[in-house]
Amino acid sequence: MADSFPFRCLPNPRRGAPGIVVLPQGGFRRARADISAWPGYAPTALHALPGVAAEAGIAALHVKDESGRFGLGSFKALGGAYAVAGVLCAELARRGAALSATTADLFAGRYAADTRDITVACATDGNHGRSVAWGAQRFGAACAIFVHEGVSGGRIDAIARYGAAIHVVPGTYDDAVRAAAAEAERQGWFVVSDTSWPGYTEVPRDIMQGYRVMAEEALDQWPGPPPTHVFIQGGVGGVAAAVSVSVRTRLDPAPSLVVVEPERAACLLASAAAGGTPTPATGDLDTIMAGLACGEPSLIAWQELDRAAAAFLAVPDAAAVGAMRRLAREGIVSGESGAAGLAGLLLAAEDPAARTALALGPDSRVLVFSTEGATDPALYARLVGTAA
Ligand SMILES: Cc1ncc(COP(=O)(O)O)c(C=O)c1O
Repeated sequence: MADSFPFRCLPNPRRGAPGIVVLPQGGFRRARADISAWPGYAPTALHALPGVAAEAGIAALHVKDESGRFGLGSFKALGGAYAVAGVLCAELARRGAALSATTADLFAGRYAADTRDITVACATDGNHGRSVAWGAQRFGAACAIFVHEGVSGGRIDAIARYGAAIHVVPGTYDDAVRAAAAEAERQGWFVVSDTSWPGYTEVPRDIMQGYRVMAEEALDQWPGPPPTHVFIQGGVGGVAAAVSVSVRTRLDPAPSLVVVEPERAACLLASAAAGGTPTPATGDLDTIMAGLACGEPSLIAWQELDRAAAAFLAVPDAAAVGAMRRLAREGIVSGESGAAGLAGLLLAAEDPAARTALALGPDSRVLVFSTEGATDPALYARLVGTAA
């Protein structure tokens, strides 16, 4: 039986068919063909957890384990690096250096003399910056990463290891997003942001198409009758929207998509509560779920989730730690943000009102995503009690 903690569950009052196609299939096909040809690409594992399913009173539970993705420790490797390649190829074409360079050309260092003068920049609370820095290094570009002062030293070191210049800025993730955009404007750098805003949607769209590779792999690997529910954690909403588009495209009826956020950074739940208007989180963003500590939804992600999500959950840090420990007992290493989706499922499964609201029952088959491994190993060891 899971520990119980106070949490919020908001069934989406606007649930229905989204009116905007935010992630067209053509873009996804290009992303999947590109990423699956990268050196070292392999689908990550989908694990069955029958013991946890029994405890939660559901028929089946599978977890997609992103700890091994490209050696970077999270699904974010699929998004940022893919978008860096797109930005570099477009800039090489604009400069007349290569009219149709490919990611394979970049991996081979064919245009290294040109890419070394191009700088990509982004804000991060860890995993996205690692992906962008890794991509920039692999493709021979310069990189500037903006982190807010709450990002742990372990996570900063992991980014700096890929040769990025690190800029620490006061405030939150959202302040770092603004600082990265402003400095990039001054310096002529290219912003590779995982969140979108009016007028800035193309790069985040590519990033989300990359994330869909994770969701589509999970659906390819899923055994037996399809999932009835998908629990996916939300920061700015990018990965939740990517998973949403993939499951809606592939499955009819679509499973219920439940978005799980930290209690102190629940901007997607706040937006649903505000009748679908993108709305900042009311919390102070002070959560151990560092990857989810985002105060403002991504514009294009919200255009999907506003109608497609079945419900929004806001969970406390202690529930994420409980889910990390539960996954560790199953032999799965999952970080604080990685375990949030399972934390949401375990809390909802224990709570009769939430079970009813989400139509969770003994026939439910649930897919959750462990979106990261121990991306801060020291913190993981402290929280779980064993080294990753
Ligand atoms: C491990 C992990 N899971 C989930 C997310 C949430 O992704 P998004 O911000 O696209 O909602 C993040 C974001 O950084 C993350 O690092």
